Amino acid sequence: MSDLKAKSDVFRFNRQRRRVLIRSVAAAAAALGLPGLGARAGGEERAAAGIDVHIELHAVQDRVAIRPGEPTRVWRYQGKLLRGDASALDAWAGNYLGPIIRVRRGQRVRIDLINELPEPTIIHWHGQHLPDDMDGHPRFAIAPGERYVYDFTVMNRAGSYWFHPHPHGRTGKQVYFGLAGLFLVSDDEEAALDLPTGPHDLPLVIQDRSFDDDNQFVYLSESAAGAASQNPEQRGMMDHGMMGGMGQMMARMMGVLGDQILVNGRPGASLEVERRPHRLRLLNASNARMYKLAWHDQSPLTVIATDGGLLAAPLQRDYIMLSPAERIDLWVDFGRWTAGTELTLQSLAFDDGMAMMGGMMGGTALPDGAPFPVLKLRLGGGTRGRAAPPQRLSRLQRPQARVAVNFNRPKVFKLTMGMMVWGINGQSFDMLGASPLETVKLGTHEVWEFRNDAATGMMGMTMPHSMHVHGLQFRVIGRFVAGGFSRQYGTVKAGFVDEGWKDTVLVMPGEHVRILLGFADYPGLFPYHCHMLEHEDSGLMRNYLVKE
Ligand code: C2O
Ligand code: CU
Repeated sequence: MSDLKAKSDVFRFNRQRRRVLIRSVAAAAAALGLPGLGARAGGEERAAAGIDVHIELHAVQDRVAIRPGEPTRVWRYQGKLLRGDASALDAWAGNYLGPIIRVRRGQRVRIDLINELPEPTIIHWHGQHLPDDMDGHPRFAIAPGERYVYDFTVMNRAGSYWFHPHPHGRTGKQVYFGLAGLFLVSDDEEAALDLPTGPHDLPLVIQDRSFDDDNQFVYLSESAAGAASQNPEQRGMMDHGMMGGMGQMMARMMGVLGDQILVNGRPGASLEVERRPHRLRLLNASNARMYKLAWHDQSPLTVIATDGGLLAAPLQRDYIMLSPAERIDLWVDFGRWTAGTELTLQSLAFDDGMAMMGGMMGGTALPDGAPFPVLKLRLGGGTRGRAAPPQRLSRLQRPQARVAVNFNRPKVFKLTMGMMVWGINGQSFDMLGASPLETVKLGTHEVWEFRNDAATGMMGMTMPHSMHVHGLQFRVIGRFVAGGFSRQYGTVKAGFVDEGWKDTVLVMPGEHVRILLGFADYPGLFPYHCHMLEHEDSGLMRNYLVKE
């Protein structure tokens, strides 16, 4: 055993032991009716010395006013800042969305997840480069009443990351009921740029939901969602306006689409903005819906960042595609429109072959690919600011695919459907398993290719997938689409932004997407999966194993 290996084993053992200790202390505290005591107990005081930010996140059941009338029963993250700058935790008042966590690259962050839900959960820090036991793999899900302590140093570049639950088979339901938040990282490179900040740096979290007549969220029924619960509060929530039989079954397979669009947790969202430059951080936190975003007057969009942070230079697009879990930062000078203008950010029509399936999915009122408004912006006063974003944003290099050990022979991962079960190369999720193909060597780069072929689709039909790899950022180095799909593809392809670091990539029907990945720093077992959460929950997820 090498020195390095021995050291990391000891490191891991200590971390494991500490977690067990904390859990038992928390359990004892809870038994005494003293929630939260665990965080300050015993040896934890000493370990706290090097910690820059310490946050407690309680996953709780709550009710919030989303629409006029009855409040909506939700699940959400409630944050408490125990250490660090007040700016590290920013709660959206009266909202179900989790707090915005703001950290700087290099900071050591401790976050305690406390599960006050009636079922297991765990948090995944989407896009962060972390040791595998900090990443929120479903094998680390904690039971109701338990605590999981995250303690890591932020290694990522500045960018718009996020966090959400990741228990196996329950991710779709838990996100749908409200569990999700932003995790924004800043660094010196970004700080030197003079990008819009404060109220001019606007996060926009886009989701879709359906409500029943009592304002309650409508998701799959418990049996269809694959989770059985005895908890009456939860049963009430789930039974309130479930979808009906066939639609239910199709939605469980194809993905749940809501018919109301929410921005930052508000349906019919509208914002008043000043006429000056803004940074808009768009996150698609929807379970399965994709967006084709554009200004209503066809002004071009200026993109400055993707999933993993700033591009080398700003890019223009007539529209951008945002598939589930993807992020795009826009730079926009609202000074280019006259005061009093009402601007609409809208989703344009596109064809991914799913409209045909809409009927089978219980006839959702807002089918995939339908056009709709997303957000209204009313332009108030303000002085005209600089008319252009910085022309050089970061020292981002072009991807060097030749560094990959398999440069000429990409590993092929087919997105498959067999017997109504999703899979990758025909295999569904296996909690602790990874195949030889899924085993990589620490310190190397590889080229992977996700294939979304017609032949493997259900009943000859193929649908889009939003492929996410945990633990790292990758580069998109190639796309190919089969001839039969080029007309559909033409309705979306001009909206991809493949020029930056990505952790999630849209793979359209008939498409092959090649990515370049580097496996640095952390050995261990990490998931990769489709981020259309019902696909993930029903098998379109596997592990990859990074070996020393
Ligand atoms: Cu944001 Cu494994 O997911
Ligand atoms: Cu999928």
